[in-house]
Formats: sequence, structure tokens, C-alpha cells
Amino acid sequence: MPSLCRVRRISLAAAALLGAVALCGPAAAQGSGKLRVGLMLPYSGTYTALGVAIENGFRLYVAEQGGKLAGRELEFFKVDDESDPAKAVDNVNKLIKRDNVDVLIGTVHSGVAMGMAKVAKETGTLMIDPNAGADAVTGPMCAVNIFRSSFSNWQPGYAMGAVMAKRGHKNAVTITWKYAAGDESVNGFKEAFTKAGGKIVKDLTVPFPNVEFQALLTEIAALKPDAVYTFFAGGGAVKFVKDYAAAGLKEKIPLYGAGFLTDGTLEAQGAAAEGLMTTLHYADALNTPRDNAFRLAYAKTYKLQPDVYAMQGYDAAQMLRIGLAAVHGDVSKKAEFAAALRKARIDSPRGPFTLSASHNPVQDIYLRKVEGKENKLVEVASKALADPGRGCRLQ
Ligand code: PHB
Repeated sequence: MPSLCRVRRISLAAAALLGAVALCGPAAAQGSGKLRVGLMLPYSGTYTALGVAIENGFRLYVAEQGGKLAGRELEFFKVDDESDPAKAVDNVNKLIKRDNVDVLIGTVHSGVAMGMAKVAKETGTLMIDPNAGADAVTGPMCAVNIFRSSFSNWQPGYAMGAVMAKRGHKNAVTITWKYAAGDESVNGFKEAFTKAGGKIVKDLTVPFPNVEFQALLTEIAALKPDAVYTFFAGGGAVKFVKDYAAAGLKEKIPLYGAGFLTDGTLEAQGAAAEGLMTTLHYADALNTPRDNAFRLAYAKTYKLQPDVYAMQGYDAAQMLRIGLAAVHGDVSKKAEFAAALRKARIDSPRGPFTLSASHNPVQDIYLRKVEGKENKLVEVASKALADPGRGCRLQ
């Protein structure tokens, strides 16, 4: 059935003729009927697998709840955001204005997420970010109706800065894609690494989503740093790890990164990834009852191993259920929805986490090492790490 509220937006007069106006107000807002869920994710390009895993994880949790969240059935609307920030506002408006969604789930790319968050904030549409780490989303752009089930770009980078200094590296080169996620991941790394006495030899970048790394790998070989810190993900991470090994650098200059470098990518990276150490809020074989149950259910449903993205999608659905239950399905009650999440302890496969005042997970960051096809847990690199939420005025 088409949404009557959508009818109202198209033409108030026409809707009145249909006797629809009254149904668009409180009755609809109180959470009757299907909850309209807008999935804005990359279904093409270098981040395709990440978008698919997020959707899979989200749907798995909903299926475990009998197809409903807090008593409401869901109806899905999907947009491929192509990881293109220039199309972000148009794409999110398709979901808000055309499809009249109640909640936005998205996205992967930080630049796109900032476009989404801007519109979500302006329109008051509920948004749960199941990946994109853009610091601004839970910083200057924070809002009562915006939440994240994943991480801030600062978090894994900051944890790795301390790890690399502790492992005795005195200087490092950084290399990443030139956009918010790369810049902010590197900034987090540098903050902790330089605080511990480390020096940055050089920051290298390539435009997103380019994978022409050869010239920069030659430069790294010439610079001879103690170690390299990197942020790449998805298809780009596969190519970078293979190229780094093929250039003969792997045995000479240790490569570290935010854990996206080796998450969901190990099949394709093969031996080139063996032994790499990364930091992330998830690892394979955490071997807790909660994670084992999630991994088994995911593997049975999709005939695939879950990764960090699947887990974040799953937790986005959990967070939506917690908020919805508190407002009896009425997403217009934003303050109450937020209050429920702010006091929740979310029972995630990664381990339980809470949300900061700016709605970003406060979570353990693990140090992991690639062994075969797994990112094996080495230790907790940073316990209950909270993003500083710089610039958020929500408290
Ligand atoms: C981001 O753009 O924020 C981003 C993309 C892919 C990742 C992590 C972060 O794996």
C-alpha cells in the first residue's frame, strides 16, 4: 500500500480528497503498519561487498526477531549510493521524499554519510550509520536522531598508534585514500603515535577509489621507515596488500592498518596478508557464546563467513529494536528513542558496548593478526575506547 503521508507530500489537496490527511498525522506516527526502512548502501564499486554484508547482517537480526522489530513488520527501500558523495543528497532524498522512509540505514563511505547526516539532521529523519566512520557524524554533525553502530575513523587509528609505538617503531609512513575516512584514520593514528614519541616520515595519499599504488610503493622503499600505517578497505584493500607484498616490502617494512585492511578480504588476499597486524572493534574467533551464535547463524543463512560489516549491520538492527521498543514503534518520539539507546548496553557479537553522549560506540579495540583465513585476536589494544566526540553539542 502506498504511504498516505507520501500522498500528502505529493499533493495536500489530492490527499484531502482521498480522506487521507488525518491518517498522516499522529495515527501513522504512533507506529502502526509497516516500518519503512531505507537502506542506503554501496551496491556497486569498491565497497560493494561491504554494503551487501551490512544488509545481510541487518536482515539476519530481523529474521531472528521473527521478521519484526518491536512488534512492527518492516518494508525495505534500497538505494545504491555508489560511494559517491556528489550524489549523496539526491540519493537520501529519494528515500525520504519518494519512499517516505521512517529510518535511514547507511552508509559505508564517510563522504556519503556526511551528506546523509546533513539531510537526516535537517529533516529529523532517524538515521543509523552501520559503517561510515566520519568523525563529524558523531562530532559537529551529531543530532538526537543520528546514531552509529560501527566506529569513528579516529578509533582504530588511535589504538594502532599506541600499539606501533609499543612495538618499538620510532618512525612511520602513512598511506591512504585521500578522503575523510583515510585522513581521519591517519590523524587518529598520528595523535597516539606522536604522543608516544613516534615521528611521521611522510603522509602519502591516492585519490579514492584509485588503486594505482606502484609509484607510492617505490617511494616507501626509498624512504625506509620503521613501519607503515594504512587505511584501505574493500576491493582497494585487496589490491594494496597484494601490491605491497609483490613489491617485496612485506618482509622489509612491517605494514599495519585499521582492521578494514584485512576484514572480509582474506580469501582474495591469500598469502600476501599472512601475519599482518591490524586494530579493529571485531576479530574472528572471539569465541564468546554471543559471537559464536551470530557467526553460526550468519554462515548457515548466507553460506559465507561474517565480517565486521555484517556485524555492524546486525547491530544497527539491534539498536533500532531497542529504540523502537522504548517508543512503542513511534519513531517521532526522538528524545525517548535516544534516551533508550543512551542507557542501553548493546549485546553485540563484538562484545557488549554502550553509546557515547554523541551516539558513537564506546568499545574495545582489538589487536588482530592474520593467520590463514582469520583475523585472530592477539589482545585488547584499547579497552572501552570512546571517540572524543569533538565538536558535538548534544550532551
Ligand atoms: C568510511 O568511508 O568511513 C569507511 C569505508 C570503508 C571502511 C571503513 C570506513 O571499511
